[in-house]
Amino acid sequence: MESDLDFHSAKALLEWQIEMGATEAICETPINRYEVPKTAPKPKPKAEAAPLEKVAGPDPVADAQALAAGADTLEALAEAQAAYSHCDLKQGARNFVFSDGQPGARIMVIGEAPGRDEDLQGKPFVGRAGQLLDQMMAAIDHDRAGAERPVYITNILPWRPPQNRDPKPEEIAMMMPFVERHVELAKPDLLILMGNISCLALMGRKGITRLRGKWVEVLGKPAMPMFHPAYLLRNPAAKREAWHDLLMVQEKLRA
Ligand code: URA
Repeated sequence: MESDLDFHSAKALLEWQIEMGATEAICETPINRYEVPKTAPKPKPKAEAAPLEKVAGPDPVADAQALAAGADTLEALAEAQAAYSHCDLKQGARNFVFSDGQPGARIMVIGEAPGRDEDLQGKPFVGRAGQLLDQMMAAIDHDRAGAERPVYITNILPWRPPQNRDPKPEEIAMMMPFVERHVELAKPDLLILMGNISCLALMGRKGITRLRGKWVEVLGKPAMPMFHPAYLLRNPAAKREAWHDLLMVQEKLRA
């Protein structure tokens, strides 16, 4: 198809559309959705009142609970969660992002949701925030790839929300059965809750500035709420508190 746009303008326009969340080119020729149809559509006959269970629809949380409970290994859990179809975020994401690092590691980091880089690579915390997370773990001698003192990393949501918006309460609720089972199967000694969304999902509370630096119990494990690395990139002065919290984690592991 001929176009008045030069190569660079067309590329810039395409990149802008991708950044705005467009994931698919639907067809080659544009559709005028404002065109008045030549023949008026016939009114649809009124649907008969549906029985109550049809109106209420399936229960996404109950479905997630059943799927998660049926998974006996991390591989089975990843498969079950990837196949879960009630969460609309799945439609807009390029990849399902389950975990990285070593299952069975003593530290399990739980972040919020994949961002652009994670969505592209299908792995959690691989962008700039992820690089800082790796440095933070290295500061206490841990390493997601390491055999000796490994880390295991996941997120509350496995699919990237459009434009990195905050997850909706119903999206978090649907994913919680998977997160809970994930912790059970990964068997860490302690959890690090990275940022407000992770605290909201697992503690029912937000306000990381007040929550950070104090041990809480989550899913039967000691959990340390910490500033999210993305926040630390924007507020480097808060790295002092993050360092304090990391030392508390190290001390707990040694105890
Ligand atoms: N932020 C998160 O919370 N998780 C990621 O995987 C990447 C950025």
